[in-house]
Amino acid sequence: MGRQMTTARPARSDTEVVFDPAGYVDGVPFEALARLRAAAPVAWVAETPVLGWPAGPGFWLVLRHAAVESVLARPQLFSSARGATQIRDPATPQALGYVRQMMLNMDPPVHSRLRRLLTRSFTRRAVARLEDRIRGHARAICDRVFTGPRGECDFAKDVAADLPLLALADILGMPPQDRWLLFDWSNRVIGYQDPDYATSAEFDPAAGTPMARQALALRPVPGRAGRMPDPRTREGMPDLYAYAHLLAEDKRGHPGDDVMSILLAQVDDDGGQVSVAEFENMFWLFAVAGNETLRNGLPGACIALLEHPGAADELRGDPALMPAAVEEMLRWWTPVMTFRRTATADCELGGQRIGEGDKVVVSFTSANRDEAVFADPGRFDIHRHPNPHLVFGYGPHFCLGAHLARIQMRALFDEVLARTSALRYAGEPAYLRSNFQRGVKKLPIAWTG
Ligand code: HEM
Repeated sequence: MGRQMTTARPARSDTEVVFDPAGYVDGVPFEALARLRAAAPVAWVAETPVLGWPAGPGFWLVLRHAAVESVLARPQLFSSARGATQIRDPATPQALGYVRQMMLNMDPPVHSRLRRLLTRSFTRRAVARLEDRIRGHARAICDRVFTGPRGECDFAKDVAADLPLLALADILGMPPQDRWLLFDWSNRVIGYQDPDYATSAEFDPAAGTPMARQALALRPVPGRAGRMPDPRTREGMPDLYAYAHLLAEDKRGHPGDDVMSILLAQVDDDGGQVSVAEFENMFWLFAVAGNETLRNGLPGACIALLEHPGAADELRGDPALMPAAVEEMLRWWTPVMTFRRTATADCELGGQRIGEGDKVVVSFTSANRDEAVFADPGRFDIHRHPNPHLVFGYGPHFCLGAHLARIQMRALFDEVLARTSALRYAGEPAYLRSNFQRGVKKLPIAWTG
């Protein structure tokens, strides 16, 4: 009896469960989120120390769809710059200053200048060319994997990992043989809480350009405690900065038809140009934002089809349903689970008093299952209409890559479904230890041609 009492774990509160990155290895705690969402639009979450992440002051978790929109639409009150956009505070004022050089962590009007320059660089011609190339990449990947009458693969590694890298290499005008550098960099940033990802080294220097090898020579090694330097500091990513610098020099000398060459050649309304530092930070942001998100979204979409074979058959029969199905795959999986803002003044949100300086964290995962907006929100329904999910955010920071992300998902599943008559699990999937990205590290599947 006494023994039982010492080993029994105390029941954890819903907010503890929702915060703990380790729990996401077993799946998203949807029930805890639903109970919190039903109770109030906003819940207070304590920030206990976890996995090398020190204790923090705690934060308001915004759970309902309307409240999430209301936060993201008011950057003056809920700032991306004041404490940046991750739940974990930057470790030092210098680290905060560093991440603030990225547009993700800026507020209007400073943000608006870079956003305008970048939006203008995604010209109609550049996007049409990217769409064509993405379709070609999806075809080539599936040609490689889905050969013969049946087979098995790890969908996460063999199918989903390469498409976002190839697409990013096209956007950034980066030699494609260097693209696995992007994979390692974004693993280091997003997988900081997961030991499998923190020291990722998939890039093969023998296959890369001299520029890549020069950058790789600066790659940091784990410190005495076995941890890599904080990837949200400049010192944590010297290899990425070196590469971005060399690439910008090369592009200024030999501009291509990629988005980053267009960006570097632009002159803004005041006659200024994108500085080297701005380019390097933009490169960092794209390398992470355009990669990890899709690398998790694509397997997430595959899981939706594995669990709903009827939907997969329907899509095989009528590929015109794919665009709406992709919206539902995105809502159902929601690859990016949270983003953070900081209140710039005392205010009220969803009936709750929020203090100046408080962290306010929006939960896309919860908002996308809000019963007030989505009927039967746990159900995967490729005919759902309308589907006003918040997967790509809302307001001035709405995802710049949303269109290209959708194209990649449509292109890949058009190819996968055209080549298979059935898909099923061939083993246990493995999920990422993170409360930020809903990540899939491994997804063994079997397919019949
Ligand atoms: C399924 C895939 C994706 C998801 C779920 C996703 C999600 C998001 C979200 C939620 C935000 C808003 C952040 C905030 O409000 O603070 C965002 C911003 C951003 N995303 Fe994506 N994204 C995806 C793919 C991409 C791709 C493919 C690219 C690049 C090609 C990209 C580039 C960006 C950039 C540059 C921003 C910052 C925009 C700004 O600060 O104005 N994303 N993304």
